[in-house]
Amino acid sequence: MKEDGKRRIVVTSALPYANGDIHIGHLVEYLQTDFWVRYQRLRGNDCVYVCADDTHGTPVMIRARREGVTPEELIARSHEAHLRDFTDFQIRFDNYYTTNSPENRELSEAIFAAMERSGAVTRRSAPQLYCEKCSMFLPDRFVKGTCPKCGAPGQYGDSCDRCGATYAAEELGNPVCTTCGGAPSLRDAEHLYFELEPQHEYLERWIPEHTTPDVANKLLEWFREPLRGWCISRNAPYFGFEIPGNPGKFFYVWVDAPIGYIASLKNLGRFDMWNDPEAELYHFIGKDIIRFHCLFWPGMLHVAGFKGPDKVFVHGFLTVDGEKMSKSKGTFVTARTYLDHLPPEALRYYYAAKLGGTVDDIDLNLSDFVQRVNSDLVGKITNIASRSAQMVHKRLDGRLGAMDAEGAAMVAKCREAAATIARHYEGRRFSQAVVEICRLADIANAYFDGVQPWKTVKTDLEATRSSLTAALNAFRVMAIYLAPILPEYAAKAMKLFGEDAFTWDSAQEVREGIALGEYEYLASRIDAKQVEAMVAAAMEKPADSGEVAHESRASKNKGQAERSSAINAGNATGSAGNDGGATGSVGAAGSAGNAGGAAGAEAAPVKPEVSFADFEKIDLRVGVVESCELVPKSSKLLKLVIDAGALGKRTIFSGIRGAYPDPAALVGKEVAFVANLAPRKMSVGVSEGMVLFAGTPGEGGGVVSPDAPAGGGATVS
Ligand code: MSP
Ligand code: ZN
Repeated sequence: MKEDGKRRIVVTSALPYANGDIHIGHLVEYLQTDFWVRYQRLRGNDCVYVCADDTHGTPVMIRARREGVTPEELIARSHEAHLRDFTDFQIRFDNYYTTNSPENRELSEAIFAAMERSGAVTRRSAPQLYCEKCSMFLPDRFVKGTCPKCGAPGQYGDSCDRCGATYAAEELGNPVCTTCGGAPSLRDAEHLYFELEPQHEYLERWIPEHTTPDVANKLLEWFREPLRGWCISRNAPYFGFEIPGNPGKFFYVWVDAPIGYIASLKNLGRFDMWNDPEAELYHFIGKDIIRFHCLFWPGMLHVAGFKGPDKVFVHGFLTVDGEKMSKSKGTFVTARTYLDHLPPEALRYYYAAKLGGTVDDIDLNLSDFVQRVNSDLVGKITNIASRSAQMVHKRLDGRLGAMDAEGAAMVAKCREAAATIARHYEGRRFSQAVVEICRLADIANAYFDGVQPWKTVKTDLEATRSSLTAALNAFRVMAIYLAPILPEYAAKAMKLFGEDAFTWDSAQEVREGIALGEYEYLASRIDAKQVEAMVAAAMEKPADSGEVAHESRASKNKGQAERSSAINAGNATGSAGNDGGATGSVGAAGSAGNAGGAAGAEAAPVKPEVSFADFEKIDLRVGVVESCELVPKSSKLLKLVIDAGALGKRTIFSGIRGAYPDPAALVGKEVAFVANLAPRKMSVGVSEGMVLFAGTPGEGGGVVSPDAPAGGGATVS
């Protein structure tokens, strides 16, 4: 606290991975943090919100390689895209930095040196799965095989989707490298470990004091046994910081990622706040990354002599219509796809209305979303302002008057709610704050309906002015309460009352006798059609979550609170020893060494398993190419008309020109195509299907044709 009684607060959200798009699941976190921070600022507290991109690790490295760019280029691109998404969602960081920064390197080295000095860093060697073809140790999400517990095939190296067991990747039956499809073997690898057992008692005490009881109980289950060491090194090649004194070894991404919080604060010039005993420090995180923030992180900070967070606030996961976000259902929606179809306020409002400050998952029910935004935000709250302000401007020279006793009493009820709503905000019970604000809107609407300004305006202008003054004052108070959730909405409301800034305390003031500012459109109704279009777009272009999964996705995918394998699973390599240790060299795809074109290129990874029922949904048919021509200005596309017999003719745009420089070569040929693919609007026209092609156009291969004539319309199965 400062002398003036204002709190000094540092707030963080988890650092999003640089190798994927921001999606509506992430926004559950960044939005609630933003609500809380804005609330603190509205109270006049000195609240600093820092974040950054989490840039290091195997997935970024592999993805960059696949795209033929440097990791630095890849992370620069994501940084820009992420920040744009956040900004457009009205999320305001004081600093949005990167973990690949000089500050972070320096801090990581200093904290590691302190960890070493304390004797907590050990070395040991253990066998790990190694892929000869890829020349790398396999992180556990890069290997699949048979579950050692239940025998389910095709399970990742950390846990089984069928029986929920957690295990070490080395225990999988018939392991397969997901990158190349090859069979990995065991190889010894030496690693550095951060020993946690010496801090057993410290952490056992720390956890319940710095997390909520639901989270602490879960974590404390692990303390019945000795805490295992945490593997903090990865072998080259790795995109990250090399460990001083350990050539060829890098800090595991989860070592420097949380240090990135401090680095971002330092880059902002507010480093002093971290260790300031008078300042408060809070992390907002999702339930999948609890162990990193409530175990390893406080352990690291403690031995390094840094202050730890005062509290770690853990939230649940987003479901859409009651289910996990799904690419095929179009519910894996990126921030950008959402913004292409719907206003940011709608999601801000809806998430606020759902977030209760617990670790429970929250559901985005798409029809409820439309209904709530329309009936509450627009119908209840905004309507008071739009009806009143428009009447004041049209019929009453744009001037407010004085409230009568009834109006003043109604407004007083709104003002009195300040303390209750403040408590809800402070406790991150945004849903309760919204319920309370809606209750006030009901009171204001009942008042409005009772005084009937649309009638009195014909008989008594001054009485009308008085009632509208009360209605607008009630609205003003609600807009202040909503400001943390709807900052731009609140800014427009400010202008209406000719104010430069709202503060929480200014809700206690009333505005009488003033000239009303221009009424700006505050919020618009949304339509189910917009949601449908968004879902359709998301199906077309699903979130780029990074083809390469991150290890912590395991628990996300299962929607579990936490996986305990890291600490207790009997993994000889220690906790995280099998996730991302890479040695040897990884050749760049398409590099000179791979002179054999398609044949020499790296195989595409096998996509996630689909059920037979899903496979059966795809209707594959034969069509005879009737015509085939070049597409002007396109170096890739050919325009085909194919005759599918009884199914009729289809126009298909296909990116296969590289394989057929002379389009006539295809005419008369029977080709296999997808007959029930949704028509796709392309810049050159609508494509009504997809021709199957084996190989890569320009590098080798050709269209898929039946071995013997089958006839247009024949099924392919
Ligand atoms: N890079 C790590 C965090 C490092 S912090 C030092 C990471 N990144 S992430 O991009 O996968 O997730 C960032 C945050 O978003 C995490 O707190 C995560 O829990 C949260 N969410 C990611 N997907 C989510 C949902 N579907 N639902 C709710 N929150 C989600 O983890
Ligand atoms: Zn491989």
